[in-house]
Amino acid sequence: MSKNQLLSERHYDIHVFCCINERESGHPRDSCSARGAGELQAYMKVRGKVLKLGKRVRINKTAVSTAVSWDRPW
Ligand code: FES
Repeated sequence: MSKNQLLSERHYDIHVFCCINERESGHPRDSCSARGAGELQAYMKVRGKVLKLGKRVRINKTAVSTAVSWDRPW
């Protein structure tokens, strides 16, 4: 197996990172968890299985990342 084939098999075609960060109640920036992100992530994971998307599609939970956070003014 070539290096490129090996690398190709290790990667996903689609990789979704779903922020489920949870901040304290009343935090001015709220949090994804308070807006139903955990339920959304679980739903996407189930739908992926129902649709038989296989291992090339991965739905991950993640906490907020400054690199991908949408709730910060840039
Ligand atoms: S709390 Fe999830 S992206 Fe900001």
